[in-house]
Amino acid sequence: MMIFLDTAEADVIAARADTGLVDGVTTNPSLIAKAGADIKERIADICGLIPGPVSAEVVATEASAMIAEGQTLAALADNVVVKLPLTMEGLKACRALTDNGIATNVTLCFSINQALLAAKAGATFVSPFIGRLDDRGEDGLGLIEDIRHIYDEHGFATRILAASIRSVEHVEGSAMAGADACTIPPNIFDALVQHELTDKGLEAFLKDWADAGKGAI
Ligand code: E4P
Repeated sequence: MMIFLDTAEADVIAARADTGLVDGVTTNPSLIAKAGADIKERIADICGLIPGPVSAEVVATEASAMIAEGQTLAALADNVVVKLPLTMEGLKACRALTDNGIATNVTLCFSINQALLAAKAGATFVSPFIGRLDDRGEDGLGLIEDIRHIYDEHGFATRILAASIRSVEHVEGSAMAGADACTIPPNIFDALVQHELTDKGLEAFLKDWADAGKGAI
């Protein structure tokens, strides 16, 4: 499963790029606005930090304007993925951009039918929002499982990008449910490596080594 960072903060991405674990980045209008950045400059900067897919979202709501914005974003770098909302206009724009060789991420997916339409529109990625479904008492990870099932059953190539991640459990649940990628807030990315038994075990190994009078290898 690919791991993406879900942030528009370039310094936060840069600080994690050298882990070799970050396969891509997702942004959205809220994240770009929160970062106080110019979208074109910030997306170009992020694309220089991470060579994998970097999602940049349109803000137009009508297909022809979405296509124009998508072409502008795609021209910023080879690894830009144009993010489009899961509306009929977004799906029309997805088909047009896909047919022009531009990678797409259809976002704000909350149902099996929406995921089916995104795949039929030729989306490179579809982004089901797990956390926002859980927030209102629905089963976000269950939706990932269901989409995995229909995509495999019908041979759709669209990749499932689990989004709106709220916890480390959402990340492991996405992997178990067959998501192709998971986009993760930086604090949750940092927590993935943590386990108290790892810390205790390492402390004991190093103490035993030092107690035996041994040094660096
Ligand atoms: C991903 O593409 C989305 O921008 C993001 O995961 C949304 O997460 P939120 O529900 O925490 O805003």
